[in-house]
Amino acid sequence: MGYSAPRGTVDILPGKSEKWIRLEQLLRTISANYNVKEMRTPIFEHAELFNRAVGDTTDVVSKEMYTFPDKKGRMISLRPEGTAGIARAYVENKMYGLPEKLQKVYYMGPMFRYERPQNGRQRQFHQYGVEMMGVESAYVDVECMVMAVTVVEALGLKNVTLHINSLGDDVSRDAYREALKDHFRPSLDELCGDCKARFDKNPLRILDCKVDANHPAMKNAPKTIDYLSENAKKHFEKVCSLLDDLEVSYVIDTNLVRGLDYYSHTVFEIISDDPKLGAGATVGGGGRYNGLIEELGGPATPGVGFAFGMERLLLALDDEQEDEEDGLDCYIMPLGEEAKDLAMQVITMLRANGFTCDMDHASRGLKGQFKSADRFHAHFSIILGDEEVKNEVVNIKCNHDKTQETVPLENIVAYLENHLAGGHEHE
Ligand code: HAM
Repeated sequence: MGYSAPRGTVDILPGKSEKWIRLEQLLRTISANYNVKEMRTPIFEHAELFNRAVGDTTDVVSKEMYTFPDKKGRMISLRPEGTAGIARAYVENKMYGLPEKLQKVYYMGPMFRYERPQNGRQRQFHQYGVEMMGVESAYVDVECMVMAVTVVEALGLKNVTLHINSLGDDVSRDAYREALKDHFRPSLDELCGDCKARFDKNPLRILDCKVDANHPAMKNAPKTIDYLSENAKKHFEKVCSLLDDLEVSYVIDTNLVRGLDYYSHTVFEIISDDPKLGAGATVGGGGRYNGLIEELGGPATPGVGFAFGMERLLLALDDEQEDEEDGLDCYIMPLGEEAKDLAMQVITMLRANGFTCDMDHASRGLKGQFKSADRFHAHFSIILGDEEVKNEVVNIKCNHDKTQETVPLENIVAYLENHLAGGHEHE
């Protein structure tokens, strides 16, 4: 019987992993550029954290979460997103007491949602996310949005649009909730069971319903923007004017409500029409969550952040660079058992000196070994036969200009240093 990876998961093999590393490095560079530090939190948390933070009427929590009892019967969930864990850790580690009031952190790693897998959507996927906690300011919202735009621009994603909206503060949300209830009440009988439950618990979530998406009542539902308090309106206007000043283009999308409960004020998404992703694909999204940290037992602390799906970012990374792989400095080619012993000594010594090398372990002939040297783009082949073992030398062949020299064992490092310097550097 064969085994296959669970549906919605993928293996990242050599050849593809280089592209992941390139993406991760780029994201780390941009993070450093914004003075955002890495934070790592567990991949599983108590299920209750997500029920509380993300909301138990959201699809993410009620339909898509991997939740199971551990051996002591505690309910555990694989994290479906990163914000809840970061906010939990912020409170638990009393990061609100740190001298730097605005804590800016990023994370990268696997997230889990039981969804129908399709292009760019998996059950185990990866997010790069940023959270900025501790300061309530439209400037921080805009720093987040500009950073998100920087990411997609650095990747060369085409046809991306920043969509923004405001959900307002508690006052605005209460007023909006009542308006939604008044709006949906007459057609409640026609809505699905989930929506009926949402009507009382969390009417905003009716707007995410996939079953009732085409119901006429959805089309002319009230907009959050019409129920903003004075305070919320001022915040949103400031966000828009800052984006204008920075010449960051955006569209106000009054239908944007996001699928997670913790948001207040600004919400945003980066939507791409890049043909590689398919029209209207959401590459990333985020927003402000001023109530979340308090909800998790911390002091009232504002926050704002975003996350990108890394698989979606990768689809956009230039394919031309796909095969561009760093070559090895040397490929060691032993011919015969005795030569293998010496090759092992040589390769260990070379690696200790910082050269990237590999050797043949399959006892193949010269031809097979040269093929490997070629596949690994080795700058030098170091050939070792009986003669070389006897004379304590090696044969070094440059695979670029095809020259070959006999070099005493004790001179190999100096020889490679001389010949790799300049045009070809070893890392
Ligand atoms: P989200 O919109 O649920 O937000 O997810 C962010 C991004 O993760 C999506 O735009 C998408 O690119 C990617 N994503 C989500 N589900 C999948 C999937 N099944 N397969 C592949 N990619 C997926 C959040 O998670 C919030 N925590 C963002 C945030 C951070 N808000 C404030 N701070």
